Amino acid sequence: MPVEFDRIYHLDCIQGMRAISAGTIDLVITDPPFAIDFKAKRSNYNRTSSRVMEGYNEIHASEYGDFTARWISEVHRVLKDSGSMFVFSGWNNLKDILVALDDAGFVTVNHIIWKYQFGVVCKRKFVTSHYHCLFVCKDDSKRKFFHSARFDKSARGKGGGSLRYKDLEDVWQIKREYWHGDKKTPTKLPAELIEKILAYTSETGDIVMDPFLGSGQVAVVSKMLGRRYIGFEIVKEYYDFAKQRMESGAYRIKDTEEMQMDFLPFEGAK
Ligand SMILES: C[S@@+](CC[C@H](N)C(=O)[O-])C[C@H]1O[C@@H](n2cnc3c(N)ncnc32)[C@H](O)[C@@H]1O
Repeated sequence: MPVEFDRIYHLDCIQGMRAISAGTIDLVITDPPFAIDFKAKRSNYNRTSSRVMEGYNEIHASEYGDFTARWISEVHRVLKDSGSMFVFSGWNNLKDILVALDDAGFVTVNHIIWKYQFGVVCKRKFVTSHYHCLFVCKDDSKRKFFHSARFDKSARGKGGGSLRYKDLEDVWQIKREYWHGDKKTPTKLPAELIEKILAYTSETGDIVMDPFLGSGQVAVVSKMLGRRYIGFEIVKEYYDFAKQRMESGAYRIKDTEEMQMDFLPFEGAK
């Protein structure tokens, strides 16, 4: 079955990517399962667990290396030579991702740290309050990078420092979004993070793929910023939620019988 762009699919991502022709995708932004025995309704990360949808498809640690190698080599095949990928990972199974990226032939561009607020509190060790974000590409001489996409050379912050330099540092301090009272999946990337990646490494009309859609954040934000998109999610309930967001143009959706919509300006919404 051939897949179409500007659509998302309820499908295993490896099966979905096999239906995409080689060398067609411009950018991949993705946050795969971390193999940390994640339970969708565990109420850490300051959330009300009753509003978090169940079903998260976690991968067992013993299968993670093989699973990671399979999806990463499929991404390498479907990316254009000018394409890049940003992969988010916790530290636990980061080594499997690093090995799979090297084995597939990716070139590492940056190893970014995303620092968020409210980490997981532990009694006998330091609080984990970051994710790794691996910025990789197929061909370093062909990849896109728009150095002044968000600030020009003259932009200055309060103390007179360069805003462009600050924005280009490889430690990103970006807050998680808390969607109080709204439907949500257990983990989601903040829109600000996706917007930043899109601004620096893609152009209007580029095709952005997320093999692990969850709530659909990457597709939703890509559409908002005039990019084309495609993505896959294996859990039906999450796929339905992402689809509802894409089709309604609602960024957040109230968790009530009436399903009231909480609209944000959403360019290109249907
Ligand atoms: C960390 S979450 C992604 C969250 C997403 N970035 C967001 O902002 O909402 C990983 C997602 O991958 C899904 N998943 C796991 N295995 C999959 C597979 N083989 N194909 C497609 N989706 C899969 C999980 O159900 C989960 O929703």
